[in-house]
Amino acid sequence: MTGDVYLDNAATSWPKPPVVLEAIRDFLERAGGNTGRSGHHRSIASSRAVSLAREQLAELLGVGSPDELIFTKNATEGLNIAIYGLAEGVARIVTTSLEHNSVMRPLRDLEQRRGCAIEVVHADGNTGEIDLDEWKARLGDASPTLAVATHASNVTGTLLPIEDLAAAAGEAGVPLVVDASQSAGHLPLSLPAIGAAAVAMPGHKGLLGPSGTGLLHFAPGIEPEPLMRGGTGSQSELEYQPDFLPDRYESGTLNAMGIVGLGAAAGYLREVGVDRVQDRLTELGRRFRDGLAGVDGVTLYAPADPADSVGIASLNVDQVPCATVARLLDDEWGVMTRAGLHCSPAAHRSLGTAPEGTLRFSWGNDTSDADIDVAIEAVRTIAARERSAEPLGTVA
Ligand SMILES: Cc1ncc(COP(=O)(O)O)c(C=O)c1O
Repeated sequence: MTGDVYLDNAATSWPKPPVVLEAIRDFLERAGGNTGRSGHHRSIASSRAVSLAREQLAELLGVGSPDELIFTKNATEGLNIAIYGLAEGVARIVTTSLEHNSVMRPLRDLEQRRGCAIEVVHADGNTGEIDLDEWKARLGDASPTLAVATHASNVTGTLLPIEDLAAAAGEAGVPLVVDASQSAGHLPLSLPAIGAAAVAMPGHKGLLGPSGTGLLHFAPGIEPEPLMRGGTGSQSELEYQPDFLPDRYESGTLNAMGIVGLGAAAGYLREVGVDRVQDRLTELGRRFRDGLAGVDGVTLYAPADPADSVGIASLNVDQVPCATVARLLDDEWGVMTRAGLHCSPAAHRSLGTAPEGTLRFSWGNDTSDADIDVAIEAVRTIAARERSAEPLGTVA
């Protein structure tokens, strides 16, 4: 192995900013009690630290009242709370073929067990773009409907026009759940401005927090049934779930050290400026595209203009299984990517890359130009070797 080039930020971001590590350590040393439970000073210090993190995140995400931000353990948990809660009494669910299984599996479950009709708007075969007219047409049905859409594809990086999708849903009187897993932290986001009923996201990807963290936000007045009920520390005398935010949806002991790390990451992102992060990701995306343009045998699956996407692009090298390319990249160049279907089989059916999938490259604010150049050189070399019929080996 020659290097340590991390291009798998869409799975989870690495490295985390040093302030995240410091905040976690500081929390464990100086606080470390359970939040909202006991009256002793370590418990109070822990509650304060979590409240501060909520405030930092609310500030970053344009949420006026920090208590509207619900902590979850990942994007999947937030999406499940929103989808199952808002699907009560719904006959149809309109979605896109770009959805991750964190959305598709709950939807297929609702189809199988509750008879909901699932209507999928398919994405363009090369760029992953969604036809807004088809989206609007499908929403205009009279039966009770829910809509779910990702903000950005985790396969091609394609950004969906989420405000337009939300406006169309609003006009049709359909609540929309947004999966902001690949956009949060990668572009400036004001959650209320999206105009959705609910937005869910992980804390461990673009928001640069540790794993085991996520966020969910409901538009004011939207308070579906929670998925779980249990101890919150608040209203201990009641055997019923508190109905106020965030406790209504935060049962059980919180991942306080993770949340504190996520709060520190939010502070870091505000200092750096998410608009600057977005510019940097676009610059790296341009470098990646330019470096691979015209390389024989390489097919890119991503919008032509990196400004239409987040820091993700997929590719395939003719005849070479993507898992083999991923292994060669890691073994010979130390370049870490992700091969396969990326938990989004419908997206790959739209792209025509199922069942093998693609090789996904995903960069972050800490990715250097040199990292991208190593990846380009490695892909070029593999493609050239393949054309000269030098054996590439296979992955068992
Ligand atoms: C678009 C999308 N949605 C949902 C998820 C699930 O995120 P988590 O692992 O935090 O539940 C991912 C993660 O890969 C994703 O890319």
